[in-house]
Amino acid sequence: MTDALPADPLIALRPWQAPEVTSWGRLPMNAVDRRSGALSLDGDWRFQLLPAPDAPVGADWSSSYVPGVWTMQSAGADDLPQYTNVRMPFADFPPGSPDADPTGVYEREVDVPADWAGRRIVLQVGAAESVLLVHVDGRAVGISKDSHLAAEFDLTEMVRAGERAVVRLTVVKWSDASHIEDQDQWWHGGITRSVLLYATDPLHLADVTVRASYDGELRVDCRVRDARGALPDGWHVSGELDGQLLAQDREFDRVNAEDDRVSDFLGEARLNATVPEVRTWNAETPELYGLTVRLHRPDGTVADTSQHRVGFRDVEIVGRDLLVNGERVFIRGVNRHDFHPLTGRTVSYEDMRADLVLLKRFGFNAIRTSHYPNDPTLYDLADELGFYVVDEADIESHDHAHEIADDPRYLGAFVDRVSRMVLRDKNHPSVIIWSLGNESDYGANHDAAAGWVRRHDPTRPVQYEGAAKLDWAATDDASDIACPMYAPLEDCVAHALSGRQTRPLIQCEYSHAMGNSNGTLADHWAAIESTPGLQGGFIWEFWDHGILQRVNDGRPVGRGGAGLYDNGVAAPGHRWAYGGDFGETIHDGAFIADGVVFPDRTPKPVLYEHREIAAPVRIECFRHEGIVLGNHQHFRGLEWLSGRWELSLADGRTLTAPAELPALRPGETAAVPLPLAIPGDGGEAWLTLRVTTAEDQPWAPRGTDVCAPQVRLRGPSVSWEVPVDGAVEVDGEGLLVHPLLTAAPTLSLWRAPTDNDELGGIAVRWRTWGLDALVRKVVSVRQDGGLVTVAAEYAGTVGVVRHRQVFTPVAGGIRIDEEAELPEEFHDVARVGSVFETVPGLDLLEWFGQGPWESYPDRSVGAPVGHHSVPVDELFTPYLRPQESGGRHGVRRFTLSAADATGLAVVLDEPRQVSVTRHRAEDLTAASHHDELVPRSGCVVHLDAAHRGLGTASCGPDTSPSYLIPPGVHRWSWTLRVL
Ligand code: GAL
Ligand code: MG
Repeated sequence: MTDALPADPLIALRPWQAPEVTSWGRLPMNAVDRRSGALSLDGDWRFQLLPAPDAPVGADWSSSYVPGVWTMQSAGADDLPQYTNVRMPFADFPPGSPDADPTGVYEREVDVPADWAGRRIVLQVGAAESVLLVHVDGRAVGISKDSHLAAEFDLTEMVRAGERAVVRLTVVKWSDASHIEDQDQWWHGGITRSVLLYATDPLHLADVTVRASYDGELRVDCRVRDARGALPDGWHVSGELDGQLLAQDREFDRVNAEDDRVSDFLGEARLNATVPEVRTWNAETPELYGLTVRLHRPDGTVADTSQHRVGFRDVEIVGRDLLVNGERVFIRGVNRHDFHPLTGRTVSYEDMRADLVLLKRFGFNAIRTSHYPNDPTLYDLADELGFYVVDEADIESHDHAHEIADDPRYLGAFVDRVSRMVLRDKNHPSVIIWSLGNESDYGANHDAAAGWVRRHDPTRPVQYEGAAKLDWAATDDASDIACPMYAPLEDCVAHALSGRQTRPLIQCEYSHAMGNSNGTLADHWAAIESTPGLQGGFIWEFWDHGILQRVNDGRPVGRGGAGLYDNGVAAPGHRWAYGGDFGETIHDGAFIADGVVFPDRTPKPVLYEHREIAAPVRIECFRHEGIVLGNHQHFRGLEWLSGRWELSLADGRTLTAPAELPALRPGETAAVPLPLAIPGDGGEAWLTLRVTTAEDQPWAPRGTDVCAPQVRLRGPSVSWEVPVDGAVEVDGEGLLVHPLLTAAPTLSLWRAPTDNDELGGIAVRWRTWGLDALVRKVVSVRQDGGLVTVAAEYAGTVGVVRHRQVFTPVAGGIRIDEEAELPEEFHDVARVGSVFETVPGLDLLEWFGQGPWESYPDRSVGAPVGHHSVPVDELFTPYLRPQESGGRHGVRRFTLSAADATGLAVVLDEPRQVSVTRHRAEDLTAASHHDELVPRSGCVVHLDAAHRGLGTASCGPDTSPSYLIPPGVHRWSWTLRVL
């Protein structure tokens, strides 16, 4: 078969422009897992890309790997990935789609096993975007839409056991469905999940619904069908739960039989059990039981089997609290897309497991499957590793939200997508909430979908941001939860305190992780944990969706690219592509790179912040005499953790002692004596409890870091340098001359704008004020004995900053007292501080302060105070679009040294923000991708008297006022010595 038949009904109907057609010939969705025992059809398929769905299929085939998108493969030729956020990539109004509509035709032979004779044969296409047309041996089989759910087709009448059949899958890229799949992500075309063929007995389990509650009650409802027609008299079911036999509920049968609505074809049976002393499921201790359901023929032989893993748990909303097993759990969530930098959207078991393992290690307990049902394996892993899942339907009509929400032509699609998700995922204990989709306004189509879910699955709440956003306190809309996105923290707190709150408030998206971001995350959590009515939220988002791209030909590397990246950075000659990098004219740039991990899953610094915020163990210093230790979990004791005390002293010492973690139930605290005597000398002292896993966890081997809560036991002792005789050399411009510096310390008010600075409209102000190009003019240089005072002015376009440096010789070096007076015009600058550059060769930074990872004033609770040592090249964070990066907060002093231990030492008057990188702010500002940066051989060092918070203004609130830099006088002092 090579040609599409002219009379082909699947083409003639033009279903890609008919939103009323959600499927044709497709089997109902169900929760019976047919993956094991199936014939995999994954691999290379014959492939051709047509310019339009009704274009003739030619004779020239290339090949394409399934599962995969052609946009990431050479078969896709010039149809490359395109990124848009809100805008549709084409101009047609819903339900229209463009005439130029890339259409992939996949074809292959399938040898139907001979021993499938007499069996029911089903084709399953894991996911195809956006319209799937199925033919077998040239005959029309069916149609399916919804790019993120499987479609099954009964081929029993189409193929013969022992013979060969030709399966053709035609995938149309743009359609009416694209308008409701307008999620903020790359546009692709192809088959993104596995294709398989399986066979069952004609008498088969059509669906299995498991309900397992906290009190140990188990109910398993089986839907039985016979492909031949009427069910044979005497069929029955049995089950087994971890070895315990489950019997068919005859009372259920009796009631059914007496019910005159019931026909002979009902095909329903129930299994019941009560499990004494049940081990319940929750995200901390995800206990699962194995369930086997068997369908028997009248003679008792087994016709069909279905395997499930069961978690006993309850979800309910009581008042304004979402309860899991009666507990008001905190939702420490993240939004996750199915994404991979080499495949685009196809994710393997190993990939998904690695995602979830990483999330567990960094303290997350919840996932929103933004913005569509994720790969089915994700839910198995969430059950097993312990996550609360908000399962979201594949509906986002962002660009045309208002038109579509009430458009009856899309009504079927809304209900279809939501109901099929529920039917697929209903048995997962991890799924605690159904979401109707994302950013699609609010209309009757949502109410219809919500109605379906509430009736079909009363065991879980429903949420939809668009419904609840009009009035968080409403009680009659399609959302059981108020789940705003990027709501200012003050608004959330005010709502919780207002007395008007009617339902849980859990942000579906907050703390936008684009670039160097997530400022004030800890402030959010301080408020959440102290304000009844607030329960958490889902960080936007897990992934930076950078696609690995070859720089020379601009093509995606594709499946063969493993090994072409490391530690968040693409190998030379490659880069992480974002919007516009594939030559798209309509695109939204780097907005696709807004995750807490790099495209290769390397953690960004924010994850360390999150890990600490989520710490299961907390400590507090108690009257300077002891420590109060608390179990901050909901369900678990501390026995899975072990601890070690660490006392960091300003004089350079770190003392350690083993820690006995007391037996504490969730929520309990205990006082323990101070584990270490603080030496009388030694200055500032910080006590850290280093907590690791005491035994192997499914997601972490024994000894994995869990958290490091810290308390200050003693403040800094003030010891400041006495002037000594000596000389300081400055040049005619009043610039310090120093053997280790290639650029003298000058004033800096600028940072390479972060994504938040740019998209939040902050950097544009800085540029208008001229902060990126201040012009320095020396005003006076005064020599007074050994002491030199330099006054200078730094002129922007609207104001002038007066700056003074006083250089004083002190033992072994120079003390530098600086003062900058910012005019009122500069009411919100990036930083106030000194910048200088060093000679090459000083490659190691050692410091006493917060670390070891990057931290900023509003993102610093995850970086404990201590003695840290990091090579200069590793201090920098390679955000996809270069920007301010690599800062360390609360630095008291540091050394920058060469391999022979020579170098320089700096002592700061107070804990300050410091950064040491190979890049000037202007280098970073000028580059659009990390691979364009050319590291300088020396170091660029910033010491900031003040550094502006990061906030999250690329999407959502800016930092809070306390992290802004006021105009007026700023003073800072430091000493510079040669080692
Ligand atoms: C939200 C949206 C997400 C993403 C995010 C910004 O409005 O739901 O899909 O676009 O903003 O990155
Ligand atoms: Mg959107």
